[in-house]
Amino acid sequence: MTQRDDLSAAAGMRTHYCGELRSDDVGEQVAVCGWVARRREQGKHLAFVDLRDHTGVVQCVVDGAHDLRSEYVVRVMATVRTRPEGTVNSDLPTGEVELGDCTVEVLATADPPPFPVDTRSGVEVDEAVRLRYRYIDIRNARMQHNLRLRARVTSAIRRAMDEQGFVEIETPLLWTPTPEGAREFAIPSRLQQGAFYVLPQSPQIAKQLLMVAGCDRYYQIARCMRDEDLRADRQFEFTQLDVEASFVRQEDVHRFVSHSVAAATEAATGEPPPPIGSITWTDAMERFGVDKPDLRFGMEIVDLGPVVAGSGFRAFEADAVRAICVTGGAEFSRTRLDGLVDRAKALGAKGLVWMRVVPTEGGGLDLDSPVSKFLPDSARVGIVSAMGASEGDLVLVVAGEKLPSCAVLGQLRIELAAPPVGQGPYRFVWVVDFPMFEGRDELGNPVAAHHPFTMPHPDDVELLESDPLAVRSQSYDLVVNGWELGSGSIRIHRADIQRRVFSALGISEDVAEERFGFLLGAFRYGAPPHGGFAFGIDRLAAVLAGEENIREVIAFPKTQSGADLMSGSPRPISERQLADLGIKVLPRTQ
Ligand code: AMO
Repeated sequence: MTQRDDLSAAAGMRTHYCGELRSDDVGEQVAVCGWVARRREQGKHLAFVDLRDHTGVVQCVVDGAHDLRSEYVVRVMATVRTRPEGTVNSDLPTGEVELGDCTVEVLATADPPPFPVDTRSGVEVDEAVRLRYRYIDIRNARMQHNLRLRARVTSAIRRAMDEQGFVEIETPLLWTPTPEGAREFAIPSRLQQGAFYVLPQSPQIAKQLLMVAGCDRYYQIARCMRDEDLRADRQFEFTQLDVEASFVRQEDVHRFVSHSVAAATEAATGEPPPPIGSITWTDAMERFGVDKPDLRFGMEIVDLGPVVAGSGFRAFEADAVRAICVTGGAEFSRTRLDGLVDRAKALGAKGLVWMRVVPTEGGGLDLDSPVSKFLPDSARVGIVSAMGASEGDLVLVVAGEKLPSCAVLGQLRIELAAPPVGQGPYRFVWVVDFPMFEGRDELGNPVAAHHPFTMPHPDDVELLESDPLAVRSQSYDLVVNGWELGSGSIRIHRADIQRRVFSALGISEDVAEERFGFLLGAFRYGAPPHGGFAFGIDRLAAVLAGEENIREVIAFPKTQSGADLMSGSPRPISERQLADLGIKVLPRTQ
């Protein structure tokens, strides 16, 4: 029996993957399988065929007449040989070798693909077409890389949670409403017509019940569903690492989650991130103007209040005068500066003052600005020094209420200087001491910033009735490169505090009993102190894959309008199914 016969008889169809052949394999008899990526005729009876699988491409030199077209599925038995001098392709990992003496077996023919699979082809493919033919889109190197990276991330997370003594427990998908703010998907019950299940926004209540149930440390790679507007970082269906633990404090939860995030980062990129530090919500808002600060670059917001106090310039006599310094921004054209002023106004500022940092004749620095003449020398010099500005920089100042002014500057900071979210380094940070409530609803009741089961900060419980908006909570977010990756909190496990929080939120005892009675009831039977966290695996995988949209790490995502272009969902169901469910569809109203 020849070596080639051996190959034919081999139980497996192939001996190697296409992308792994190297000069060390020269002389080997191999069998590879894949899709025809490209075919170049070389005269009548010779063709160069690039064969692709998920590992890469290898060149096959095929003699004789073969009808091999793009995306045909073939098996090639061949001998690995060195490419002739001058034909080595240093762009390809397999570029030093080729397959000669090929026996080609066509396993499936293929229609011409609607777009080239090779992303290096430079052809921009419309996303709607990519999603309509997602199974072809996923053949390309970028999607293969992303989905495999995501799988490494998920398995590293599982390992890290297992190592820390967490138990993976599945919770129901057919569930009941939970108070987490998003609109929910409802599923009609056939057996109890007129009643509905709700798909979980998150396993929040279920995991708290597991703590009452003595499970101690729970986690789940949990699918969650939220009927909310879709954006770069949001899909209807997404996946969380969901975590809950008993007898823990905030720092314990941070440690568990930081360990799993570090493991995931290392699995994806080969390197763990630096230890994850923390920043208070107030600091984040004042220094970066957002609760999800991007720490990859400076340009922090500076308090100019003390510097301009008493300067006599009316516009700066405000609650707060804050500024950022744009390195090299003095070069911006007048049109660009006017654009920044308009942008600041659109973001809610009364105005934006720009100041170019220019040299003085005496070798110092001064400000060139429409408002220069209103500022005494000392204030101008003070501003340059407070900003740590150099010649050629641009100082942007907003005066007004503190947090709104910081928010405007924070947004300008991002728009002027933030690299794409997926561009390393990966700067994770815990944001702690969030306020318990954010603003009030139309009835004047405070709105929960996280969810109503979040424990207030121990020092602020007494303010629940007298000054609820000043109450800090024991909730925390994990942020990376300006994206919120996840959030969590220490939960209320005492009925008396829970009652006071519901009351602050304007939720009456009856309503609380009706909506979460089963949780409150469980708490009467001995609830341990507990807390937890959940982060978006889609978001983490996207950032680590260098992508800016989570769709790029999801096999079959929905479009902006919530459609699955490949399967055609959502779509009407049959009259019979509707009748089974006791549902009558009303005519559409526009
Ligand atoms: P939260 O609502 O903040 O917290 O969600 C946690 C994380 O889930 C991810 N996420 C999403 N990802 C993609 N598409 C979406 N539509 C979407 N919505 C949320 C984000 C987010 O930070 N039960 C609490 C956690 C807890 O308190 O333990 C919760 O779900 O990355």
